[in-house]
Parts: sequence; C-alpha cells; structure tokens
Amino acid sequence: MRAVRFHEHGGPDVLTVDDVDEPDPGYGQVVVEVGAIGVNPVDTYFREGAYPVPGLPFVPGSDLAGTVVSVGEGVERFTLGDRVFGTGLGNGMSGTYAEQVASPAGLLAHLPEDVELADAAALALVGTTAWQALVEHGEVKPADTVLVHGGSGGVGHVAVQLAATMGAHVVTTASPDSHDALTALGAEAAFDYDHPNLERAISEEYAPDVVLDTHMDRYLQLNANVAADGARIVGVGNDTAEGGFDDIGVTKGKELRYQFMSMFNTRETDAVLSRLGDLLLRDDVSPVVHETYELAEAGEAQRAVLHDSFLGKLVLVP
Ligand SMILES: NC(=O)c1ccc[n+]([C@@H]2O[C@H](COP(=O)([O-])OP(=O)(O)OC[C@H]3O[C@@H](n4cnc5c(N)ncnc54)[C@H](OP(=O)(O)O)[C@@H]3O)[C@@H](O)[C@H]2O)c1
Repeated sequence: MRAVRFHEHGGPDVLTVDDVDEPDPGYGQVVVEVGAIGVNPVDTYFREGAYPVPGLPFVPGSDLAGTVVSVGEGVERFTLGDRVFGTGLGNGMSGTYAEQVASPAGLLAHLPEDVELADAAALALVGTTAWQALVEHGEVKPADTVLVHGGSGGVGHVAVQLAATMGAHVVTTASPDSHDALTALGAEAAFDYDHPNLERAISEEYAPDVVLDTHMDRYLQLNANVAADGARIVGVGNDTAEGGFDDIGVTKGKELRYQFMSMFNTRETDAVLSRLGDLLLRDDVSPVVHETYELAEAGEAQRAVLHDSFLGKLVLVP
C-alpha cells in the first residue's frame, strides 16, 4: 500500500509516497481503509522536528475517516465494514497519511451513514479541539458571549458553529474576506484582526465570558482586557507568547481562569467524536472542506495549511 512518509526532518519536500506493508492490527487496534485524511498545522510540526517522533521514517497525520478492514484482539466496538472516523494519531505512533492505518480503537468513533468521509476527516481534530476548549474547559452556557480568535481557521470555523449551537453569542476575529461566511456559520460579529484598535472595537460591544485563543502570541493582554469578570480563557494555538502581558493585574482583578490545552490529552476521544458525529449528521456543525489533494500532493497541502489564507480545512484523499 502507499503511505506518505518523511525520512528526515525538513520542509514539505521531505514528504515522499512510499510502498510499505499493509498494517496488522495489534491488541486493541483496528485497521482502517482510509477514505479521507484531515490536514492540520500540527502535522507540519512533526515533519519539521519541532515536535518529537518515535523514529524515522515516519508517517504524519492525526485525522482519518474510512472503513474497518481488520479488527484486533480485545476490540468489541467495531466490526468489518464499519464506517469510522478518528483523531489523535501521529503523536507517539504512526500517523494517518496512508491507504491503511492501524488505529487504537479508543481514538475512533462510528460514523453515521449519511456523513461524507471528507467532512468527518476534516472535523476530527479541530472538532475535538473546539469541544475540549468550549465544553470541557470553557464550560460555555447558553447566552454566554464567546470570543473565537482565528474564526476562518480549521479550529475557528468549527468553534464558531459549536458555540452558536450551544446557544452562545459568538464573536470572532478573522480577515475581512471571511466575515460574511462566519456570520452565516453563526457569528454575531466578526472583527478584522488587523483592526488598528481591535481591543476597543470588541469591548465597545462585547465582554466575552469565554475566549478560545488560537493566537496566544498576540492576544494574551487583549483577552484579559476585554473579558468579563470570571471569564474562562482557553489557549490552544502558538507555542510562543511573544506579546506577553503588559499588565497582568487585570487577570486578578477580574478573577480570570486560564486553561492551556492540547487536543492530544483528550481522555475519551471516542466519546467526543461520537458527539461530533451527531452534530455533523444534524448539520449543527458542518466543516468546510476548502480543497482536497491526492497523497502525492501532501507536501503542497502542508505548505498551504500554514501559508495560504482560506476558510475551513484541507483534506487528502488516498
Ligand atoms: N492545542 C491544541 O490542542 C491545538 C489543536 C488544534 C490546533 N492548534 C493550533 O491552533 C492554531 C490554529 O489551528 P488551525 O487548525 O485552526 O489552523 P489554520 O486552519 O491554519 O487557521 C489559522 C487561522 O488563523 C487566522 N489568523 C492568522 N493570524 C491571525 C490573527 N492575528 N488573529 C486571528 N486570526 C488569525 C488565519 O486567517 P488568515 O488565513 O486569513 O490569515 C487562519 O484562518 C495553530 O497554531 C495550531 O497548531 C492547537
């Protein structure tokens, strides 16, 4: 079978399509014939060597959707022919950029018949991230105001929809090209992230109870300044905080709660994915697949996910 691998760390060019053996399911694993693979910024961090991999060559990728073709010992939830989707692979174990993948059963959920594989693969990692941020950590309640930074991104456009489905008033930062689309997805207001006084523009109208921050290098102080008393601020994006705080005192004055999280730490990924599958089926959360690529174009997809401006997700189709 074909798998995309890197034999050394580096830029998108180090990705090659290799012929490799089909995987056998280990204990607690199932093998999935992959129909679609979500492309995420984190896939590039492993490729570059910023995040560690267990060994080289390595297959990147966290997200998959497809059909079960083989079931290992100790697995009772899945059987041959089941449609499934999953996330959380490619970190400490081989990833999903392949025609077949052996996945721990706990990282998979059943996929309703009417859901497209590409939509499920596009949703898995970003939906799990948005769920953990808004439901688990943000504890969003109906009528809360939720600020989502980077609303046009993979995480952002799903978080906007999830927060709206939870009954929140949703505001978001994004480039102007995507403001209309984000309003259609459920945002009450969209602010240009290059607005010369973004903080004042937001706080004139809104005091967020929950913030989902995909750009912590830029918004640590702004979040604290615009937040309501007792707000929950959940940081997911960027591993640097260059902007830092000019005045950290405001965080104490408002009793702000901070949570920094990694989707890879999700304890019951299968349960979260099952809920996301229900939301997908009901069109409460509909990921936007901006573009699909073949396996041989994985390098181009990884370049685009970091450098191109678009709303939604990129998907590989083996
Ligand atoms: N901790 C976790 O568990 C976790 C999980 C998922 C993702 N992440 C991280 O979260 C970040 C976003 O992930 P993603 O999948 O959504 O990436 P993505 O699809 O590449 O989206 C990033 C979005 O941010 C927008 N953006 C750029 N500069 C901005 C700014 N200053 N203010 C607001 N928005 C801005 C971009 O819009 P334009 O293209 O218009 O500039 C783009 O739509 C990445 O750093 C990723 O590694 C972390």
